[in-house]
Amino acid sequence: MKTALTLSGSIRKGSENMRLQAHVGGKLEAAGVAVTAINLSDFDMPLFNEDLEAEQTPEAAVKLAELWRSHDMIFIASPEYNGGVPPLLVNTITWLSRQKPSVFRHAVFGIGGVSSGKYGTIFSLSHLRDSLSKVGALVVPTLLGIGPAEEALDTDGNPTEPAIIRKVEAIVHELTHFSRG
Ligand SMILES: Cc1cc2nc3c(=O)[nH]c(=O)nc-3n(C[C@H](O)[C@H](O)[C@H](O)COP(=O)(O)O)c2cc1C
Repeated sequence: MKTALTLSGSIRKGSENMRLQAHVGGKLEAAGVAVTAINLSDFDMPLFNEDLEAEQTPEAAVKLAELWRSHDMIFIASPEYNGGVPPLLVNTITWLSRQKPSVFRHAVFGIGGVSSGKYGTIFSLSHLRDSLSKVGALVVPTLLGIGPAEEALDTDGNPTEPAIIRKVEAIVHELTHFSRG
């Protein structure tokens, strides 16, 4: 059975991206994938700097790296902050990029996000895809940008628009198709 790790770049209470994480996780399970859903608040890491790194790698980075290496696919749901990737996710990826062996070369990555703006995180997803590609990750083609949240999702966090429903199906298909298993 293929395995997926899902996470959200927002850990706030009521996060739309956590709801997207749960929605895509449910669709992956329906496609026969074993899903591990994590919350980044359980992997607390200080703001990266090389002096800190020289002293000690945070235990959370080591644990998270093991999780990233041991799953066939990783789905990241993330908000857009100021057109870019939010600091929690940047910091997480920065610490993980320093772990050996690489945490980026085993799984395939799917990325998506929900925002309150009408462009639906597409600017930040583009940055995130570039960054992940730069460190050797294979990111599937569908970028699951969704917004504005109050129009695109119902109260349970399920997409309401046919185009978004089709995009969810596409990213689940790509993740299951391109992952090694
Ligand atoms: C610092 C900050 C910057 C933001 N920048 C953007 C932005 O560039 N584009 C956008 O569509 N929404 C932006 N937003 C609004 C977020 O899309 C909105 O707060 C979203 O619900 C956050 O995701 P969450 O619900 O998962 O926490 C920003 C929010 C914050 C706090």
